[in-house]
Amino acid sequence: MRGPGRFDQPLDPLVAAFNASIGFDRELLPYDLAGSRAHVRMLTKVGLVTPQEGELLLGGLDRIEQEWQEGQFNPGVDQEDIHSAVENHLTQQLGAVGKKLHTARSRNDQVATDLRLYTLDHSGRIIGHLTTLMGVLLALAQKHVETLIPAYTHLQRAQPVSLAHHWLAYFEMFDRDRARLTDCIERMNILPLGSGALAGTTLPIDRAYTAALLGFRAPCENSLDGVSDRDFVVELLSALSLIMAHLSRLSEELILWSSREFGFIQLTDRCATGSSLMPQKKNPDVPELIRGKSGRVYGHLMGMLTVLKSLPLAYNKDLQEDKEPLFDTVRTVETCLEIMTLFLTEGFTLDTARLAQAVEEDYSNATDAADYLVRKGLPFREAYYIVGALVRSSLANGKLLKDLSLREWQTFHPLFEADIYEAISPKQVVSARNSYGGTGFAQVREALARAQARLG
Ligand code: ARG
Repeated sequence: MRGPGRFDQPLDPLVAAFNASIGFDRELLPYDLAGSRAHVRMLTKVGLVTPQEGELLLGGLDRIEQEWQEGQFNPGVDQEDIHSAVENHLTQQLGAVGKKLHTARSRNDQVATDLRLYTLDHSGRIIGHLTTLMGVLLALAQKHVETLIPAYTHLQRAQPVSLAHHWLAYFEMFDRDRARLTDCIERMNILPLGSGALAGTTLPIDRAYTAALLGFRAPCENSLDGVSDRDFVVELLSALSLIMAHLSRLSEELILWSSREFGFIQLTDRCATGSSLMPQKKNPDVPELIRGKSGRVYGHLMGMLTVLKSLPLAYNKDLQEDKEPLFDTVRTVETCLEIMTLFLTEGFTLDTARLAQAVEEDYSNATDAADYLVRKGLPFREAYYIVGALVRSSLANGKLLKDLSLREWQTFHPLFEADIYEAISPKQVVSARNSYGGTGFAQVREALARAQARLG
């Protein structure tokens, strides 16, 4: 924004284009209009504009919103940014009255306000997307309490678990993401407007009134901080980065599960893609893209931290660089949450026969053979060595534990009896893990009920 009073040379076109944010900050328009409406009402309340002027200004802002919705409001780079574009357009429409809009306001406190309104709005939307996704995970879990799946440590078969338990692990991650966003909102929900350019204003404004009109918890305490704080952007980018980490981990598992090596799921035609060369291919592009997009989100977090580093108080134009990473991150995360919800709903079918076979074909019941001896009084470490030797000998003979004869079991320890077979069957192995938060069916059913209550 350059007034005719101060400059007599036009701006170099290259500088104008470089300086302008209008190419991307138009995304802030609805929030800018909301902020301006509240500002006008406050100016009217304190008598800085007359009620008639206030009505004219509010009408003009409504018209801009309508023109925008109809695609008629398309400011170009000559407008520098969305704030100047709205003010100039209002003045074109209304004449002198339009020039009163910017009373007791700077673009510095204005853009900080717009950005907080934007982040508040989208944080709420993302909490909504997370809740929908959690609902889908919960529904999947409810269907699969007694479906067993190998669980891994070090990507080596460890112990089988209820598939519901696996889905509920992701439910926990996304629930923490909701809580993190709710916590970020606490600090986001503070109004910078009224900070002026940096020092406040000489005019008799009522910041508490503006805050109440816009639904902010309170006006910010310090005007220098008000115009220069972007901690809430970093906090949001950080919370969204963790959402991407969770989506990416889930994606990775789905990708692995869809491979022939695992074969736990089959991709549906609606959500899978093909290869341009290999006719047999069915590719998990959807979870791969989600996994890949975590990269740009983490990059934006790093970028924003770097923009803020060493910035002196108060506003600096560097802060204009907050918008593109923020908007891109929010768009990316919202899309990825929606796509993951779709993918979990209709992206694959479970190969239950393969899963049932998978939990039978390994030594992931070895801990249970050791626990069997512990229940008969052996110290755990002793039982652990005995079963280790059992596994080694079985491997050498190409047998699974369930294939050993009772005589073979007993050569390793006389405490083994005929009920060992039941004790190491996958179903028993899973259902017996009934410690709180464990995968035992009774525990999982209770966890499902608690999860349902938390989801609301
Ligand atoms: N487009 C600017 C931004 O995004 C708005 C604030 C401009 N303030 C200023 N003093 N030049 O940060």
